[in-house]
Amino acid sequence: MDDIRIERMTEAHIESFHRALDIVARERKYLTLLEAPPLEDTRKFALSSMANGNVHLVALDGDALVGWCDIRRHFFPSRAHCGSLGMGLLSDYREKGLGRRLIEAAIEAAREAGMIRIELGVHADNVRAIRLYERVGFVREGVSRDAFCVEGHYTDVINMAMIFW
Ligand SMILES: CC(C)(COP(=O)(O)OP(=O)(O)OC[C@H]1O[C@@H](n2cnc3c(N)ncnc32)[C@H](O)[C@@H]1OP(=O)(O)O)[C@@H](O)C(=O)NCCC(=O)NCCS
Repeated sequence: MDDIRIERMTEAHIESFHRALDIVARERKYLTLLEAPPLEDTRKFALSSMANGNVHLVALDGDALVGWCDIRRHFFPSRAHCGSLGMGLLSDYREKGLGRRLIEAAIEAAREAGMIRIELGVHADNVRAIRLYERVGFVREGVSRDAFCVEGHYTDVINMAMIFW
């Protein structure tokens, strides 16, 4: 795992980011998306988001993209001090400390970009992710009850945030 590099995402990573996003989304447990949007939509979205100064980091094993973490600033001026965090790792790369490295680097980049508050939503049964978020300083702020549903199975979403001051 020590060989895995964490870097800023560039245009060259978009296809492999799309592939990794699709794999994790299709697990249908962790992400709001149940599959990745079409590649061209993902490309447009990522290029525009990166151009707007949002945080997009990737974890690379050689040339292979094995994880990502993004923190995207809210659009409205009154919420522009806030960013929303999303992340995922391919299954072979989980539970080895990589998530922690990735999120810590992303939080630092968000802080450098002037964000004050980082928010996220996590499914209540995703104990591994909740543990990671608590370890790096997120606190629970509330619960959106039955907010995620796949095949008739409802799950609560826990709203978490960290604030830098
Ligand atoms: C959630 C995710 C990013 C965490 O990254 P990771 O590399 O697997 O986690 P780490 O190895 O860095 O471990 C983070 C913490 O969780 C703990 N942990 C690891 N596996 C765990 C498990 N199965 N249950 C509970 N805690 C667990 C670790 O011990 C560590 O806590 P510690 O610092 O107190 O020891 C990664 O597992 C993942 O991508 N999962 C699927 C997609 C996903 O859930 N995305 C987030 C959506 S909100």
